[in-house]
Amino acid sequence: MTEEISAPISYLEHWDRTAPFDPPTVLGELVRTRPLVRMVYPDGHLGWLATSHDLAREVLSSQAFSHRFHTTHAPVTKKGELFPSVPIVPGGFIHMDPPAHTRYRSLLSGEFSARATQAYAPRVAELAAEQLARVREHGSPVDLLPTFIRPLSLRVLCEVLGVPSAGSSVLSDLSDSATDDEVGLDAEREAGTRAYHHLLDLVGKARVERGPDVIGRLAADPELTDREITNMLLIVFAAGFASCEGALASALLALLHHDDQLDALRSAVRDGGASGIDGMVEELLRYTSVNQFQIFRTALSDVELAGTLIREGETVTVALPAANRDPAKFGCPDGLDLGQDASAHLAFGYGVHACVGQRLARLVLAQALTALVSGLPGLALDVPLAQVPVRLKTPVLSVLRLPVRY
Ligand code: HEM
Repeated sequence: MTEEISAPISYLEHWDRTAPFDPPTVLGELVRTRPLVRMVYPDGHLGWLATSHDLAREVLSSQAFSHRFHTTHAPVTKKGELFPSVPIVPGGFIHMDPPAHTRYRSLLSGEFSARATQAYAPRVAELAAEQLARVREHGSPVDLLPTFIRPLSLRVLCEVLGVPSAGSSVLSDLSDSATDDEVGLDAEREAGTRAYHHLLDLVGKARVERGPDVIGRLAADPELTDREITNMLLIVFAAGFASCEGALASALLALLHHDDQLDALRSAVRDGGASGIDGMVEELLRYTSVNQFQIFRTALSDVELAGTLIREGETVTVALPAANRDPAKFGCPDGLDLGQDASAHLAFGYGVHACVGQRLARLVLAQALTALVSGLPGLALDVPLAQVPVRLKTPVLSVLRLPVRY
């Protein structure tokens, strides 16, 4: 085993995205030259950054690495400042390791299985059609974010979970406060508390009268406390909404910027409908890789990674956007090529914490893109790409407005 000796890069350097589609330049270089490098974290910790597809999979699937929040040195605020340590709450499975993680995760896996997701398909298509009607009512030009992308992502997630539409804005406010640079930590916490109490109230009601939804089914489990269920729901919402909205907006932006690829998608939809574009959705997920920062794990003991010694307690950040552009894995790593097989992408992570809602996310993307390209002939960006506001430095890449004409 060797010890890495080259100069470390700084945490903020890997965070420095400057273009809506491409990861920070430094990541593109590292994946080709030095896929495992030393990185200095915001608290001064000397850890690691992994950029290749192989290393990303190895770290994310290894039991030698922990996802427990208090083991990491990476947590930073939207502005890159150190984040105060957060206690792990009952049901807060995203920051747990097996077996505690497994218990909660297995209660949710069935809710998002292939069969369960298939059952959601007709309703997702209906919701996409309803939002398309709103877009048409508005007329061209139109901002697709408030008329289509955001309401569709929110309505699908709320219906699946069992959150009535009347209270859904409490949940989207939470997501907004987490990504808006202008919102401070205190306001973010307040939005979290409001969302928590809203969900806690719904769980209490579901204990008495159960709906045919995720909240209803979790509330039927006498072994789960209200607090555990609420925290599980909070995680599903927080992890799901911003990612779904960001992925759909970024996929559309990428298509609208690549006319030939948009034409290819149109033809595939014409020939096979939503199910005819499954492979294309994978390529869009790979290319846009919206979960761009803050995927990290910490070594529980000394461990070897690609022949290098990672010492116990050292944090490794995995750069998913770089791994998804690894030339060793993808034939067209840096371009958008809807014809290539991108099924090995890591946009949903990998290993035990891989996205639990990934089938639902794929379904939403396929149905949404199908509705838009078949329902809005002539769909095109209404402003130059440079004028589309995109938050480049948030953990989930977020497009703020998507002005189009049709
Ligand atoms: C295209 C949209 C989405 C993308 C790109 C995405 C991406 C990801 C990624 C990269 C992770 C792994 C995080 C890590 O390893 O640290 C993750 C985890 C997770 N995602 Fe998603 N996600 C999407 C949509 C959704 C949806 C719709 C849901 C809910 C229905 C969801 C729920 C979750 C949950 C609960 C986790 C944590 C799983 C665990 O810790 O076991 N995601 N997602």
